[in-house]
Amino acid sequence: MTTYHSEPRDFTDKRAGYEQLATQLHGLLEGETDPIANAANTVALIFDALPDVSWAGFYFLREGPRGGELVVGPFQGKPACVRIALWRGVCGTAAAKRETIIVPDVNAFPGHIACDAASQSEVVVPLIAAGRLLGVLDLDSARLARFDELDARGLERLAALFVRASRVAELG
Ligand code: SME
Repeated sequence: MTTYHSEPRDFTDKRAGYEQLATQLHGLLEGETDPIANAANTVALIFDALPDVSWAGFYFLREGPRGGELVVGPFQGKPACVRIALWRGVCGTAAAKRETIIVPDVNAFPGHIACDAASQSEVVVPLIAAGRLLGVLDLDSARLARFDELDARGLERLAALFVRASRVAELG
């Protein structure tokens, strides 16, 4: 792992911003394969670097008595809902569909789970390794329409870096 220096970032050019974040994340995860350690540093970097993000974290897919459900993993922000069933909320929907979902206004998303009343917009990226669903990366903002397609593509890239660097088989 390379030493992390928090620095002011200019996300007016989102492509360049995410490019820089991907390089930093690569350095942070280098030489470490523990999935919880890497998940923790991934969301710490995202939360520190991205403006207007109120919550950033992972939910991992776990087998439970009622089948697979998402259970909260490492995150930054206020305490959050622990368990989310597949197809429930933005997280459960993105996981079940295996698709990134951008929600410009959470109040207009049927079934949105309000962990934090201040949250106004959200983006959820599914984590897939070799065709297997591992969970999701979830970001919230107190600003409406905070996340766009450039955020989605940038966060998908960061999620893929996390998956590739980590012994994700240990998560299941
Ligand atoms: N809003 C999410 C729940 C998780 S929290 O935002 C941390 C959802 O609807 O799935």
